[in-house]
Amino acid sequence: MESREQYLRDLKQWLSDTADSPLEEMADFFTKRLDGYEEHMGIWEKSYQRFAELLPDACRNILDLGCGTGLELDQIWKKNPDIAVTGVDLCEDMLDRLRQKHPEKKLTTVCRDYFQYDFGSEQWDAVISFESLHHFLPEAKKELYKKIFLGLKAGGVFLLGDYLACCEEEEELLRGTYTEKRKKSVIPEQHFVHFDIPLTLEHELSLLESAGFHAEKIWDAPEEADIIVAKKE
Ligand SMILES: C[S@@+](CC[C@H](N)C(=O)[O-])C[C@H]1O[C@@H](n2cnc3c(N)ncnc32)[C@H](O)[C@@H]1O
Repeated sequence: MESREQYLRDLKQWLSDTADSPLEEMADFFTKRLDGYEEHMGIWEKSYQRFAELLPDACRNILDLGCGTGLELDQIWKKNPDIAVTGVDLCEDMLDRLRQKHPEKKLTTVCRDYFQYDFGSEQWDAVISFESLHHFLPEAKKELYKKIFLGLKAGGVFLLGDYLACCEEEEELLRGTYTEKRKKSVIPEQHFVHFDIPLTLEHELSLLESAGFHAEKIWDAPEEADIIVAKKE
């Protein structure tokens, strides 16, 4: 396995090679890559399977934040075909693909920004999100986690499958580049762009705990798709 030093060297090289590449708007980024998207994400098949296993059997309704074409839902419905899902995503083309794959399932799709969408109060058995939240700054995530906590029923669970930074150096390197690139292209604050700014496990857990969750990492994936289970106890 690659050492942390080598990983950081490669990351710095990649950031330097792509220093002049403009940032792409979030939904456009995924629309352009829709064909081939699921094959590309296939490297995380085991994480998707583990994610589905970690969802409590008693769940009847779930909210999926950044559901995309639903790779996590493919696994969840294999295990529990009757589960009702509300999938929120910015990208209508990704949602179209999801609906085409699962016409017979209890599925509601919402083409919206999950920071703006109302999750209600004590409404969901589980809230899930896979590979979506590493695009956002901790301040925004903190508010989102509070909203998720409020939306969950007592005893509910938030399953987060995501890319975590290996250390503070990676976190700061990526966030610094993100801020720099946004400034250079004069991108307004409310516009979403595709650029990875993962947090370290420690920072991610601390945000979840500050929202009221009891959280721990359950699955350590070699390829940037770790799983955190956050419980509303
Ligand atoms: C890497 S894809 C993951 C999709 C799916 N969860 C999976 O694992 O295959 C990230 C998804 O998050 C969506 N997304 C990013 N920011 C979002 C936001 N603020 N509100 C809703 N969806 C968002 C993107 O449109 C994209 O479909």
